[in-house]
Amino acid sequence: MLRDRVRRKALLDKVVSAEEAASLVKNGSRLGMSGFTRAGEAKVVPPALVERAKNDGLKIELFTGASLGNDMDGKMAAAHLLTRRSPFQADPVMRKAINNGEIMFVDQHLSLTAESMRAGQIRKVDTAVIEACAITEEGYIVPTSSVGNSATFALDADQIIVELNLAHTDQLEGMHDVYIPEKRPNRTPIQVSHTMDRIGVPYFAVDPSKISAIVETNIPDSPANNLPPDDDTAQIAGHLLDFLKNEVKQGRLTNALRPLQCGIGTIANAVLSGFQDSPFHDLEMFSEVLQDSTFELFDSGKLLRASTTSFSLSAATNDRVMSSLADFKDKIILRPQEISNNPEISRRLGLICINTALEFDIYGNVNSTHVGGTHMMNGIGGSGDFARSGQMSIFVTKSIAKDGKVSSIVPMVAHVDHSEHDVAIVATEIGLADLRGLAPRERAPLIIKNCVHPLYRDLLTDYYERAVKRGGHTPHVLEEALSWHVNLASKGTMLL
Ligand code: COA
Repeated sequence: MLRDRVRRKALLDKVVSAEEAASLVKNGSRLGMSGFTRAGEAKVVPPALVERAKNDGLKIELFTGASLGNDMDGKMAAAHLLTRRSPFQADPVMRKAINNGEIMFVDQHLSLTAESMRAGQIRKVDTAVIEACAITEEGYIVPTSSVGNSATFALDADQIIVELNLAHTDQLEGMHDVYIPEKRPNRTPIQVSHTMDRIGVPYFAVDPSKISAIVETNIPDSPANNLPPDDDTAQIAGHLLDFLKNEVKQGRLTNALRPLQCGIGTIANAVLSGFQDSPFHDLEMFSEVLQDSTFELFDSGKLLRASTTSFSLSAATNDRVMSSLADFKDKIILRPQEISNNPEISRRLGLICINTALEFDIYGNVNSTHVGGTHMMNGIGGSGDFARSGQMSIFVTKSIAKDGKVSSIVPMVAHVDHSEHDVAIVATEIGLADLRGLAPRERAPLIIKNCVHPLYRDLLTDYYERAVKRGGHTPHVLEEALSWHVNLASKGTMLL
């Protein structure tokens, strides 16, 4: 019951319908909404804003943690509600609106949005729309299945609209650890030295007088849409496990490895799932999302504990985890994304970071975001936060896409998200290239030999040999370097 969850009884006067809450949003507002990888997003106020867009042409700028569930991004884009969106999305309708120039998408490292607002480098939000599982006696907000940027949005906004979602178990209360870095200058270190260190409070300590509306909802998070592991992802996992076993053999790691960070999507989820059949044990995760693979590792006894900012689970795993959440209370901690993705902590803990590339080039530069160099896929997410700062930055991808019309290894990436300086290991189903300590002229032959699909191996070898004849630290045939992408755009395939 809503009355049990809103423990500051004076706030019960603020309970209104979604439409009434949406009417409090002014045209041109900057909205900060909860939600991260389909978890913990506001469920009913955004659709009411969509109706306003259809009826009176409402326009807003929208900031979140990351992508939203329940097709919210798509619905908002279809109604032309948004003029600006940041920092991450993963919706086909919104992708289209971004790529046709209607929505100005600011693709930002996920650890940076709150920090940029705090420093005044981007303007703060004026309204926060936050999903909660409870409001405390003090009027503080207890978030739900993600924390994301919600704490900063709620603390900074002039008004807060709370969606109190009864579909979330109240067992979530106590799992969050909300710590906001101090202002600069003279900021003190963020005191997280172990995965489960608690340094904050389990709620957003807002001024309750800013809560302008509370809307009751009873709608679950929508499930993640990852595909199951397949032969290719099993092979990628196999290469990675062999590599890590060798690191243990060489004495550089123990069988507990270092805390693992694993990116979003089908490939990263499937690769982590492969850790079930490994000699590694007593594992920990310090990651941005916990996908199904995390709970497979908990079940198999491999994983001891995990820190994150969000869940991103299939329907079956979500039902199972949420109905037994009490069992995970001392094993999982939910933090703001500027802490889960914080470079200071990644470097201190020495994370092993596994993220997915759309494509990488013969020197190890990685494109995670732009199809064909121009068209936004999802966004950089947290991959850059981790790639630069962890102990070991690993990028995985299948060696080909689109039935072989696309090679995921190209002469030169057409967009750079992670430069060669931030990339230590690349792996496809063909094999793995350990680039640590290698110069560009050592990297290229290794990548071509170990990672490229046979369909493209001779073509890339020919390119590299001709490039080397021209000289340079990082040799290229510049007039041909992007020709594979040109061929894909003009002739529908890179394979010519
Ligand atoms: N060129 C064009 N399309 C490509 C491609 C390439 N080089 N490589 C893959 N694709 C396409 C696939 O064909 C697939 O298309 P479809 O949706 O039409 O089937 C799509 O990209 C997704 O690829 P998939 O193989 O299913 O991988 P995924 O679900 O693991 O997603 C990313 C891969 C890169 C899109 C995803 O991981 C991502 O958005 N990463 C950036 C953010 C990030 O790393 N966050 C993690 C930080 S914690």
